[in-house]
Amino acid sequence: MSNVEEKLVKSLTAETTELIPYLPYLLQDLWELGSSPRDMLEMIRKYLDVSGQIKILDLACGKGAVSVSLAKDLGCMVKGIDLIPEFIAFAKKKAEEYGVDGLCEFMVGDINESIKVERDYDLVILGAVGDVLGTPEETIRKLKQTIKPEGYILLDDAYGKQDVEDGYYSRDEWLLIFEKTGVRLLAEEVVEEDELIDLNHEQQGFIVKRANELKKQYPDKAGLFEGYIQSQQAECDLLENDILGVTMLLQSIM
Ligand SMILES: C[S@@+](CC[C@H](N)C(=O)[O-])C[C@H]1O[C@@H](n2cnc3c(N)ncnc32)[C@H](O)[C@@H]1O
Repeated sequence: MSNVEEKLVKSLTAETTELIPYLPYLLQDLWELGSSPRDMLEMIRKYLDVSGQIKILDLACGKGAVSVSLAKDLGCMVKGIDLIPEFIAFAKKKAEEYGVDGLCEFMVGDINESIKVERDYDLVILGAVGDVLGTPEETIRKLKQTIKPEGYILLDDAYGKQDVEDGYYSRDEWLLIFEKTGVRLLAEEVVEEDELIDLNHEQQGFIVKRANELKKQYPDKAGLFEGYIQSQQAECDLLENDILGVTMLLQSIM
């Protein structure tokens, strides 16, 4: 079992790589898989000069909800990369549907490889991807390599309400990491609780429905799909109670 596959399932809140072939089916009713395209759009509009055509890299872009929205509303060039071929195919279809296929490039790939070759972007996005690129410090260093000297990073992650022992960095700990890695926190948008509860409820409804269909189709794997329902619910509870989902806009300062 590769490390990349283990982190892939974790990024989609699954507990076993056995679920990988079923993830596109389980998530077929969702376009947005983590980050809020609206929050990201608002932050970009407020802090970046978008009068020229900016170049954005969306790492682990999922089904392209953020990329397509930014291309549509800002007329920027976006390159989105994700490991799941079905997600990339969906993103391409959406780009066509929204008339931005000329602005968006989507490709299947491992972002651990992409960060070694992608360079010179105005903005890089890592939305709800967890520890795929390593610790927060490693993640920021890697993201920084892909942007221009004073380029921007949009990171959707979480602030732990307690300390690192829980696996989530507190806001103060994130700030120390920013200082160490040479980035400045320009803005942060914490997910609103009501909005989060509504969204979790809606998405969980879709996932439970699809998981139940799979249970019927593959009775011998019922435990696998039930496990997915449980881990999704646990993630919703975690986000609603123990951590704060946050989108951070950072600027490279050295
Ligand atoms: C929770 S989703 C977020 C998707 C998207 N950023 C969004 O906010 O809608 C996490 C994504 O990370 C992708 N992923 C995980 N590991 C990856 C890797 N090594 N390379 C590329 N994509 C990866 C998954 O396929 C999934 O689409």
